[in-house]
Amino acid sequence: MSERDPLVAGNWKMNGDASSLDGLLDGLLTELSGLALRRCSVLVFPSYVYLGQVAQKLLGSGIGVGSQDVDQRAQGAVTGGVSADMLKDVGCRFVLVGHSERRTLFAESDKLVTDKFEQCRSQGLVPIICVGETLEERRQDRTIEVVTRQLKVVTSRVGLAGFDGAVIAYEPVWAIGTGESATPEQAEEVHAGLRRSLAELDENLSCRTRILYGGSVTADNAVALFGMENVDGALVGGASLKANSFAEICKAAEES
Ligand code: 13P
Repeated sequence: MSERDPLVAGNWKMNGDASSLDGLLDGLLTELSGLALRRCSVLVFPSYVYLGQVAQKLLGSGIGVGSQDVDQRAQGAVTGGVSADMLKDVGCRFVLVGHSERRTLFAESDKLVTDKFEQCRSQGLVPIICVGETLEERRQDRTIEVVTRQLKVVTSRVGLAGFDGAVIAYEPVWAIGTGESATPEQAEEVHAGLRRSLAELDENLSCRTRILYGGSVTADNAVALFGMENVDGALVGGASLKANSFAEICKAAEES
């Protein structure tokens, strides 16, 4: 890995309850205290309803908390909406935007994803913009085209200053929850393509932006993935729901 400090984020998706997540955090705090991480940042993304509870428990622990989604509007008559301000209020600093499950299950368009990205930035939250191709798009050799389009929709609206400090997550749709991770070489090829795309905006921005890989990351494949020049960490789904496997992934990032 490069001079960029690694980041490992656990996306808990729609899993757990108050008691099981409390237990998961206890396990994680114990595992991570034994690792004494210096370079690797660790984040967890619980469901909205547990954000406050999780953020309270992690206060002062060094583990950050993020939200899996945000409303694109600032406030008002939006029944069911959760604003960026509310997320900050309960201790959140990061937000996933454009996860493929949101794009597919909730029909989120590139425009809506960009609106959410902008909303995060305007409230001082760090967006993690997720991009990724379907299996069909990969078979058609359109991977780089698809992921750079998803990224450029955002960068062309927010520009250099608006993007700086954000994080990118490359998550091939075919690798999410399937047990079939991209190979380190496949991930590296796409990460390098995304970095080239960012360099068109600004070379320095491109060098300092962290690009995470997500899609069936486990303690077993993490070392090889993190060995790639342009893989700066991981966005982990299933394996983040077990304290020991998530901690193993953090350890691999720390030592990369
Ligand atoms: P899995 O690690 O379960 O494949 O999920 C990846 C993901 O979607 C993280 O956001």
